[in-house]
Amino acid sequence: MRRTLSVLALGALTFLVLPASCLRPGRPIVPTSVPPAAPAPHDGAVASAEPVATETGLAILRNGGDAADAAVAVALALAVVHPQAGNLGGGGFAVIKRGEMVAALDFRETAPRSATESMYLDKEGEPIEDAATVGPLAAGVPGSPDGLFVLHQRYGRLPWRDVVSPALRLAREGFTVTPRLREALESYQETLARFPETAKVWLPDGAPPRAGTLLRLPELAATLEAYMKHGPDALKGGTAAAAIETASRAHGGVLTAADLAAYRPVWREPLRFSGFGWNVASMPLPSSGGLIVAQSLAMLERVRFDERPAGSADRDHLLVETWRRAFADRFLLGDPAHTRAGPGQLLSVDWIARRAADIDEAKATPSSQVSPWPGERLPQAAGAMKPAATTHLSIADGTGMVVSMTTTLNEWFGCGLYVAGAGFFLNDEMDDFVTAPGQPNLYGLVQGEANAVRPGARMLSSMSPVVAWRDGETVALGSRGGSRIPTATLQVLLNLIVNGDQLQQAVDRPRIHHQWLPDEIVAETDALSPGILADLQRRGHRVRTTGGLGEVIAVRVRPDGRCEAAADNRRNPGGAGVLAAGP
Ligand code: GLY
Repeated sequence: MRRTLSVLALGALTFLVLPASCLRPGRPIVPTSVPPAAPAPHDGAVASAEPVATETGLAILRNGGDAADAAVAVALALAVVHPQAGNLGGGGFAVIKRGEMVAALDFRETAPRSATESMYLDKEGEPIEDAATVGPLAAGVPGSPDGLFVLHQRYGRLPWRDVVSPALRLAREGFTVTPRLREALESYQETLARFPETAKVWLPDGAPPRAGTLLRLPELAATLEAYMKHGPDALKGGTAAAAIETASRAHGGVLTAADLAAYRPVWREPLRFSGFGWNVASMPLPSSGGLIVAQSLAMLERVRFDERPAGSADRDHLLVETWRRAFADRFLLGDPAHTRAGPGQLLSVDWIARRAADIDEAKATPSSQVSPWPGERLPQAAGAMKPAATTHLSIADGTGMVVSMTTTLNEWFGCGLYVAGAGFFLNDEMDDFVTAPGQPNLYGLVQGEANAVRPGARMLSSMSPVVAWRDGETVALGSRGGSRIPTATLQVLLNLIVNGDQLQQAVDRPRIHHQWLPDEIVAETDALSPGILADLQRRGHRVRTTGGLGEVIAVRVRPDGRCEAAADNRRNPGGAGVLAAGP
């Protein structure tokens, strides 16, 4: 695409400007003395959960930044204006594609070093209520400060301060509380009120700030300023780390400054696969999301999903049956160091063929008959799904780079503790581990021993940042929604690559979900016509209706370089923006 060469050259300069030595504690990141040669603005597309964050990303592209610069700026803006899920106190994953290069960045949280398998159980071995979801005992070691920094180091083009300063401005000068934020605060008010430091900022006078209020976050602004000057070391040592350790200890947590200092993000080999003629890349372990998307696509190809009529009960049935099997296999997964199976086994031709052959086109297979692996005993527990948080952003620039990034605090506002002196929420990601044997997690996921709590381990995720491409066309997409992330993402991908939908249409189509256990289809209220519902029930499916499933955020680059963006109209329309830089 246009200007590719100059962008690659500038990328190389960025490596020189931010050497690893900049990362030593207390050492300021010197603003680059090599200006980015006034890079020309280029086309681009930004989609996120919040229009203000999207505008931040567009401004970065307008100023000559690339998709990596914009992704970091949008993620940081979301940490300010979308504190439900945007974060510095959580983690995430990113898949980046530039030309032939595809990379996967893992900045997933880790279990603190003193974490144990029984830390959420009482003396009788029973789960302690809320221990893995509320309060800092539920918090994993945050990965976002390092993750965003190394993404910029490797692929960014603008000086670091330029990508941090928009979020700093939002925190310092204030932003308008949206109805969505107000509603989220109201729905979590009881949890937030348990922590005086949280209530002070988020429940002034005992209630959340009204929609339309201008809200300033001075402590977060101070943290962002230190982050801008010193990089992640500003949060992994010094006063911010001390504040996190103090707050954690005060509320029964085990997170220490030493845990923060020891955290490392990991560049991983992306999970690469194909489906219906498209190349696809997503996140490998410790996310199960990429594998679920990959296995489902492979099974759907085998059962000739594309030959069934769009919008038919046949297609819904096949989707559900492939998910049932992919989620059963998820039971074997965990941190790559402890997993009992990986892509080598679960995506092998033999295994996919065996799984697909077992699908009965006329009848639902009860989940009780779908074992995770030959000889594996089935778990007894059946989960109940609760609402889920997380947020996704998708960005394309005109230089041929796309970034698909999902970040999370797990639940809205993470563990509910807003750290005084640091100005951000800590996650409750520990609930993504198996915190009590046989007990489903927040998302109703029944998980196996590979995902037990182990010091330093990464908890199994479902986040599925996806990039797919064919014949010069590229899409980047992902979702929020816990266990619903891979199923929502896959449905939108299929709408695009099998049905040939427009981007917004693909995102807005009603969705369904199934995750092996509990053995039920969850369907958005308008997803199934009475005829299709009756057909699925006749095949033996149990169906429950629900509100929105996931929040898919996507961008697409057409072969001629035109960019498109789509935010999810079922959640927060207006988070999509396109930049056309002109001829
Ligand atoms: N915390 C949601 C996930 O990682 O799947």
